[in-house]
Amino acid sequence: MATKVTAPSVLARKGGEKLKMVTAYDAPTARIADRAGADIILVGDSVGNVVLGFDDTLSVTVDMMIHHTAAVTRTKPNALVIGDMPWLSYHSSTDDAVLNAGRFVQEGGAGAVKLEGGRKRLDMIHAVLDAEIPVMGHLGLTPQSVHAMGGYRVQGKEAHAAYELISDAHALTDAGVFVIVLEGVPDVVAEIVTNEISAPTIGIGAGVNCDGQVLVFHDVTGLGAGEYLPKFVKQYAHLADDAVVALKEFFADVQSGVFPSDAETYHMRAESEQMLRKLSSPSDHLMADEAMES
Ligand code: KIV
Repeated sequence: MATKVTAPSVLARKGGEKLKMVTAYDAPTARIADRAGADIILVGDSVGNVVLGFDDTLSVTVDMMIHHTAAVTRTKPNALVIGDMPWLSYHSSTDDAVLNAGRFVQEGGAGAVKLEGGRKRLDMIHAVLDAEIPVMGHLGLTPQSVHAMGGYRVQGKEAHAAYELISDAHALTDAGVFVIVLEGVPDVVAEIVTNEISAPTIGIGAGVNCDGQVLVFHDVTGLGAGEYLPKFVKQYAHLADDAVVALKEFFADVQSGVFPSDAETYHMRAESEQMLRKLSSPSDHLMADEAMES
């Protein structure tokens, strides 16, 4: 049995074997991710658009995230489970940040939390770390900043912006985050960050030079039926299409009466069935009623 992945064991993988991370939001997908050998399962706030039907991640609440995080941790995976702190759960005060991060551990069973943002969020990150909760950073295209960014745009394309992002990565590492997600940045920026900082980087739309990679479960497996796929996604299966084929066959079998067959049906013992049929036949009802009246 593989040993449980922890925040320190992730940190120790810097520059070593690549880290494999995937999002999962429920028990079945968490079991699949763990069986496939994920090092980290991120219960991402992308649950908002991927599963809950919102247009973005901004409507996701701490309660929703705890609900999904607990579903994942109940499967007891070997992978480290990281809970993604939603928008506004760590923006107003360090106290809020600690209490909300604590809920991910106490109620959700998470082994770490993820916060978006760089130096702006340092106070909150320090406070959560001081409460003994490991923190994953997230820089670059941070979806909770969609309005501030003016849409989902690749970040750090100009030298100055890239330099700011690299400085953020240094600040997060100095604060003590054990790993940083780099999302939607040019590969050279991710390469420089990866070479300069002591914490591992995990890329999503950040090129091949990170210490690991992450994708959303529904994107990799093709479960997100009809969803727009960003350029950085590689789809390795088409589960939604397979599911449509399966359901069409099921419906056809229902229509034709082929389903359920004997194999999917429960039966009574012969004597019990005989007695039941007798009891429920209309003439027997009549006889029983007459016997009661006399
Ligand atoms: O919410 C999410 O799924 C994420 C990852 C894609 C990094 O933040």
